Amino acid sequence: MEIQEALQWTDNLIFATTGKHLDSLQRAILEGVWEGKGYQDISDEYHCSNDHVRKSASDLWQLLSDLLGEEVKKKNVRSLIENKIFSSFNGVQIGNIGNNVNLCNDLYNQSKIPRSRSPSPPSNKSEPRHDLSQAPEYNRLYNRTEPLATLKQWILEENSRIITLSGLSGIGKTALARQLVEQIKDNFDRILWRSHRKLPNLETLQSHIIEFLAPTPPSQNPSIINYLNSRNSLLDHLRNHRCLIILDDFQETLTPGELVGNYRPEYQNYGQLIHEIGQLPHNSCLLLLTWEQPLEIATLETETCACKTLPVLGLGKLATEILSARQLKDEKKWPELIQLYSGNPLWLNIIASTILDLFNGSVQEYLSYPTLFLGDLEPILKQHYQRLSESEKIIIQWLATQDQPVKISQKPPELLSDADFLKAIQSLKRRSLLEKSSGLTLQPVIKQYVKNLSEKCF
Ligand SMILES: Nc1ncnc2c1ncn2[C@@H]1O[C@H](COP(=O)(O)OP(=O)(O)O)[C@@H](O)[C@H]1O
Ligand SMILES: [Mg+2]
Repeated sequence: MEIQEALQWTDNLIFATTGKHLDSLQRAILEGVWEGKGYQDISDEYHCSNDHVRKSASDLWQLLSDLLGEEVKKKNVRSLIENKIFSSFNGVQIGNIGNNVNLCNDLYNQSKIPRSRSPSPPSNKSEPRHDLSQAPEYNRLYNRTEPLATLKQWILEENSRIITLSGLSGIGKTALARQLVEQIKDNFDRILWRSHRKLPNLETLQSHIIEFLAPTPPSQNPSIINYLNSRNSLLDHLRNHRCLIILDDFQETLTPGELVGNYRPEYQNYGQLIHEIGQLPHNSCLLLLTWEQPLEIATLETETCACKTLPVLGLGKLATEILSARQLKDEKKWPELIQLYSGNPLWLNIIASTILDLFNGSVQEYLSYPTLFLGDLEPILKQHYQRLSESEKIIIQWLATQDQPVKISQKPPELLSDADFLKAIQSLKRRSLLEKSSGLTLQPVIKQYVKNLSEKCF
C-alpha cells in the first residue's frame, strides 16, 4: 500500500474527530515509520530534536489508539492502518471511532457508502443547507468515543427519529452533540441547531424550523406564511428531506417548581408535536439536549424503538486530561478530585481555577480542606435546585443527611406519602439528580450544596 493512501486515510480519520489535520511533523513521522526509519533518522531529516519527534510520535500513537480502539505503537502502526483500510474497504466493522462501518468508509471514500438512511426523494433534491450558527465551536473531547459510536449507530444505522441526550449542566451534552454533527453532517440534507434559551415559544420554534426546511427561502416564497403554524407541514418537511434538528437546552420549555414533565404555557402543545415526530414515519432525526427528560420521551421509548435516550455521563479517569491541561499538581490525588466532582468537565474546570487561585495548584492541599468547596459552582447548582418541586426538595434534603445509599423501602413514614415519594424519586431520576446505584444517593457536590442550604436556614 502506498504511504500517500495511508496518510490520506489517517488525516481523514483524525480530521473527522478533532477537526484538525495532521501537521507536517506528524506526516513526517508516519512516513518515516512506514518506511522502517528510526526516530533519530526522522529527526535528522526533519531538522529537530530527537525528543521532540519522540514526544510528537507518542501523542500521535495515543490519539490513534483512542480513535481506533486498539493500542497503536511505532511497531504496529503500519500493519494496523493497512488492515483498517482494507477492512473499511470491504465493509468490515472497525475501530472505536464510530465502531461503525459508515464512518470509516466515509473517511475512505464517500462514494462507496451504503447508507441505510435512505436519500431524499429525487424531486426534492436541493443543495444541502446547514445552519449551525447557534452551535458552539467544537473542541477535542476526552472519553466520548463510545457515546459517539452509539449515537451514530442509532442515527445512521437504525434511523432513530428522536434522540435525547440528558444530563446535568456542564456534563458535556452540547459538546458531544457538536462533535456528532461534525461527524455525520454529510448524511443530512438539512441541519438546524437551535437553543431554547433563544426561542420564546413553540410557534417561533416551528416557524424557524419550517422556514429553514422549506425548499426555497421564505423571502422568495410568500406562501410559507400560510403554513408557518401548521404541524403537518413540519412533518412533511421532515419526510421530504433528511433533516437533523438539534434543540439545545430543552429543559427551558418545562415548568420549574413542579415535577418533571409539564410544559410552560407557551410550549403547551410541544408534547403532541414530539409524539408525532416520534411515531410517524419519516427519515429525519430530532436531537434533544436537556437537563430533564420530557414525559413523552419516556413514553415513546416504550412504544417505539425509533426514540432513544442517552444519559451523558462523567468523563471517568480520562478527566485527568483536563487537570493536566490546567497544570494542577499532585497527580496521585486527581482520581479523588474527579470522583468528588463526578467527572463533570465544567465542574472540574471551575474547581481547577479555584485550586490554582487559592491553593497554588495543589490538589492535595485543596482536598485536605475539611469541607467540599463549591465556590463558583453554587450559581450553577442553584439553577438545578430551583427547578425542583417541594416534594423533591424534601427527598433531596433527606438524602443529603445519609452517609450511605438508602433503599426506597427505608423511607421514613413521615417524610411523604408513598405515592408522592415515588413520583418525586422518578422525577429526580429524570433530572439526573439521583445516582444510579444499588440505593438512592446524591452526587457529592449536590449533597454539599443541599447541606450548605440547610446550614444557612438554621
Ligand atoms: N468530553 C469532554 N472533554 C473535554 N472537555 C469537555 C468534554 N465535554 C465537555 N467539555 C467541556 O465542558 C464544558 C461544558 O460542556 P457542555 O457541552 O457545554 O455541557 P452541557 O451542554 O452538558 O451543559 C465545555 O467547556 C466543554 O468544552
Ligand atoms: Mg449545553
